[in-house]
Amino acid sequence: MYSYYPEELIEEIRINNDIVDVVSEYVKLEKKGKDYFGLCPFHKEKTPSFSVVATKQIYYCFGCSKGGNVIHFIMNVENLDYVEAVKYLADRARMELPEGESKEEKEKAELRKEIIKINIEAARFFRDQLYSEQNRNVVTYLKNRKISEQMIRKFGIGYSPHDWDLLYKHLTGMGFRNEVILKSGLAQPAKNGGYCDRFRSRVIFPIFDIRGNVIGFGGRVMDDSMPKYMNSPETPVYNKGRNLYAMNFAKHSGVKNILIVEGYMDVITLHQAGITNSVASLGTALTESQGRLLKKYAEEIIISYDSDTAGQAAAMRGLDLLNEIGCNVKVLVIPDGKDPDEFIKKNGAEAFRSLIHKSITLVEYKIKVLKKQINTETIEGKIKLLNNAASVLAKVDNVVEREMYIRKIANEYEITEEALLAEVYKKIKPKSNFKSKGQDISNIGKIKQKDGNFDSELVQYERRLLAILCFDNSVYKAVKNKINVQDFTLEENKKIAEYVVERLSNNKGIVPGELLNILDEDYAKEFTRIIQEECNFEDNIKAILDIIKKIELFKIDKRQKEILKLLGHHEGLTGGDVENLKQELQMLLIKKKGL
Ligand code: UTP
Ligand code: MN
Repeated sequence: MYSYYPEELIEEIRINNDIVDVVSEYVKLEKKGKDYFGLCPFHKEKTPSFSVVATKQIYYCFGCSKGGNVIHFIMNVENLDYVEAVKYLADRARMELPEGESKEEKEKAELRKEIIKINIEAARFFRDQLYSEQNRNVVTYLKNRKISEQMIRKFGIGYSPHDWDLLYKHLTGMGFRNEVILKSGLAQPAKNGGYCDRFRSRVIFPIFDIRGNVIGFGGRVMDDSMPKYMNSPETPVYNKGRNLYAMNFAKHSGVKNILIVEGYMDVITLHQAGITNSVASLGTALTESQGRLLKKYAEEIIISYDSDTAGQAAAMRGLDLLNEIGCNVKVLVIPDGKDPDEFIKKNGAEAFRSLIHKSITLVEYKIKVLKKQINTETIEGKIKLLNNAASVLAKVDNVVEREMYIRKIANEYEITEEALLAEVYKKIKPKSNFKSKGQDISNIGKIKQKDGNFDSELVQYERRLLAILCFDNSVYKAVKNKINVQDFTLEENKKIAEYVVERLSNNKGIVPGELLNILDEDYAKEFTRIIQEECNFEDNIKAILDIIKKIELFKIDKRQKEILKLLGHHEGLTGGDVENLKQELQMLLIKKKGL
C-alpha cells in the first residue's frame, strides 16, 4: 500500500534538507577543518567520532561505523522506515508530497491528522482544567505524590473534569467533526442518547509517540475507585503495542541503556530524579514491535517491573522476547515488592541508581525466580530445580557464558559440573534458522550489497574508485578513457558505475549523498564507510589512477594464473589452443610492463 516516490522527488527532498542543518537539530556539531564533528547519537561516547561532511552530504561515525545520507540519518534517529523518513523530510522542507495512490490512503492520512489535532486540543483543555480554581484538589493530589511543577509541564499532565460532556462540547465548539471526535476515543455515545466524555474526574497523562505527537491519554482516579487507570482505546493514531511511554524523551538521554518500567507514575518519578533513560510499557506485556524500538535506541535494556507475581510473569515474557530479537537484557529487582515510584519516594534517587548498577542478567533472574518457587530442602525439590535450571541454561547461546553459570550452580547445589552439563545438553535443541518476517519495503528495487565468492579485493578497489568519482567529480576528466562501465565485476558496482558515469559524462555533478538514494540501507552504510575510512587521499587523481592500475594488474594476474593452469594439464587442448594461450600470455606480460 506504500506509494513510491519518483527518484527526482526524493533527490529534491534530500537537497532541501542540508545534512548539517538536520543533524544539528540532534547533535551539537563543531567544525574541525572542513568537516563537522559531534557526539554520536547512535552509540555512547565521550569524545566526538561522529562526522558530518557538508560537501559530500553524508554522516559517518568512526566509532560505530553508522553512516549514510540525510534520509538514513532520519530513519535511524527517528526510528522511521524509508517512506516515513522521506515524508518527514518533505514536511521539514515544507514540500508538498503527492498523496498515496489510493483515495483510501489519503482519507486515512487526513483522519490521522485530524485526530492528532483533536488530541492536542484535548491535552490543552485538560491542562487548563488543572489550573482552574475549582480543581485545586488535583494540584494537591499531584503535590502529595511529589510530582514537581516541572514534570507536570514536561509530561503535559492535566485533569478531566467531573462533568458529563464538557470536552465533547468544547471539541464540537471548535468545529471538529462528530465522527472524528468519536474515532479519537475521547467521547462515546451515551446510553440515553447524546455523547459523553471517556475521561471524567481523572488525572490525565497524555501519551506521546516517538516524535512527540499526542496519540492518546491515560487517566487515573484520585481515590480508590475502579478502574484505577483508564486509557484511550486503539485508534487510527494509537496502537499501544507499538508505543512506549516517554520514549520521545528517553531517546535523547544519550545513555547506552534504557530502563523499562510499568507505569506512568514510575516514569515520571524517574525522569524527575534525573533518570531520563526510562520508558513505560503501560502495564501490558512487551511486544516485538516495542522490542525493536528499544533495540534501536539502547545497547542494553533493563526491565524493572513490580515484583508481584503478575509483574514477574510479564517481566519474564518481556525478557524472553527482548532476548530473542537480540537485545542485551537485564533485570532490576526492587526489594519488598515496591514499584520504582514508591521506592524512589521512600529511599531516594541514589538508592535507585545503585539498584540499576546491581541489575542482573536474564539467566540469573530466571534462576532466582526458580529458587523462590521451588523448595530445595527436599531431594525432589533439588532435582526439580536443577532440571528447570538446565532448561534455562540450554537457551544460552554463548558457550563461555553457559559454562560459567553451570559452574556457579553446580557449586551451589553440590553436584558435579558434568552431571549438570549432561542435563543441559539433553535439552539443547538444534537451532532453526531465524529469518526476520516480512520484507523491508524501503529497500525494494535498490542496489543491495552483496558479499560472496567474488574477488573481494577487486570489488573493494572498484568501490573505492566509484567513491572517489562520486565525491570528487573533477577526477573524471583524467580517467574517463580508462573507465568502462561493463568492466565492473559485481552487478551492483556496474549499476553504480552506470549511474555515476551517466552523470559525469553529461557534465552533471553528483554528490555521495545523492548516490546513496539508490542504494539499500546496508550498502549505503558500507559505501559511506569506504568514503570516510578508505579514501583520504592527498591527491585524488593520483589515487584513482593508482587504483585503476591495481585493478588492471589484478585482472592480468588472474588471467595469467588461469592460462598457466590450463597449460599445466593440457588434455583436451589442440596444438592451436596451446599456441593461442601462449600468445595471450605474452600479450599479458607486455601489458603488465606497460602499466
Ligand atoms: P499499577 O497498578 O502498578 O499503577 O499499574 P502505577 O503505575 O503504579 O500507578 P500508581 O502509582 O498507583 O498511581 C501499572 C500500569 O498499568 C496500567 C497503567 O498504565 C499503569 O501505569 N494500568 C493499571 C491500567 O492501564 N489500568 C489499570 O486499571 C491499572
Ligand atoms: Mn505506583
